[in-house]
Amino acid sequence: MNCENLDWAILDRLRAGFLGGGAQGPYWQSPADLANYDATYAERIGWKWDAALHELTRRAWHPHARTVLDWGCGSGVAGRRVLSTFGAENFDALHVWDHSPLARTFAVDRARTEFPSVAVAEFTDTGQPVGLLVVSHVLNELPTDALAQLLALVARADAVLWVEPGNHVVSRQLIGIRETLTSAFHIVAPCPHQGACGLLAAARERDWCHFFAEPPPGVQNDSHWVRFGHRAGVDLRSQAYAYLVLEKKPSASTCPNDASRILGRAEHFKGFARILSCEAAGVSSLELQKRANADLFKELKKDASHPLYRWTRDDRGRITSAERV
Ligand SMILES: C[S@@+](CC[C@H](N)C(=O)[O-])C[C@H]1O[C@@H](n2cnc3c(N)ncnc32)[C@H](O)[C@@H]1O
Repeated sequence: MNCENLDWAILDRLRAGFLGGGAQGPYWQSPADLANYDATYAERIGWKWDAALHELTRRAWHPHARTVLDWGCGSGVAGRRVLSTFGAENFDALHVWDHSPLARTFAVDRARTEFPSVAVAEFTDTGQPVGLLVVSHVLNELPTDALAQLLALVARADAVLWVEPGNHVVSRQLIGIRETLTSAFHIVAPCPHQGACGLLAAARERDWCHFFAEPPPGVQNDSHWVRFGHRAGVDLRSQAYAYLVLEKKPSASTCPNDASRILGRAEHFKGFARILSCEAAGVSSLELQKRANADLFKELKKDASHPLYRWTRDDRGRITSAERV
């Protein structure tokens, strides 16, 4: 990313639109809008995809479908991240859809250049199964009818990879969608169980399901990114995201029944850390005394990409031992 080449009139307008919850109708005004977005905000979204996809590869999960549909594609960063992570050779086609024709054209051109062996095209709905459906950062822009259209595609997908901003409202929306899909799909991630979401319990209204993605090494010292961060008013150190990965036919189980996932970040205090742990029995607040496991205490501070753990705890909610699973 070269900060000198950015058009700030475009970036400011786009950001104002995103913060305002999305405009009515397509807002991409020119290919330059998409190029500026692709180099900056979309790249940050790409870091969230990298984090979510890293968790899938860590669990040895990969999609079976050879066709990908990136719906609400914008510049197409999500579909491209998926192809690069799982390997372009494992896909025959990448289809993109956006209600903006400019976005569709940009996403097609960009993906064709990056993946010459894959048939990249605009999506035409023939009513056939969809393959792997990729959805990224669209929820807060969709009126009811557009969301219904998207959910009809979800119903026809073999698997769904969905990443959204990690704020309370959008995470809760995604949880609501998750709850309608548990009978038709197996949940691959982030949930370590197939039951109802524990955050829907009465005492958990203030919590939400989110995670943090770090930028690739070097970004925080890259003068172009640093200047971009200051000018755009965004903190590049970590990006909050929510995600959901579903598949129709479960792969060999990659998640043990007694696994737990830390939601958000561990909070560190003098001598102990507090975490919100999601597991089959529900979501609970747990404490880790530093002296009980100093390595884990440090690991929770350093590593934002929390893997699945198996905890042993006492009856006061204190973790007595932990292993990665
Ligand atoms: C914030 S951008 C995200 C773009 C891209 N998915 C990404 O993650 O970078 C939201 C995208 O959703 C598209 N969009 C909004 N409403 C839509 C609708 N009803 N049908 C299809 N695309 C829509 C917008 O045009 C825009 O490209």
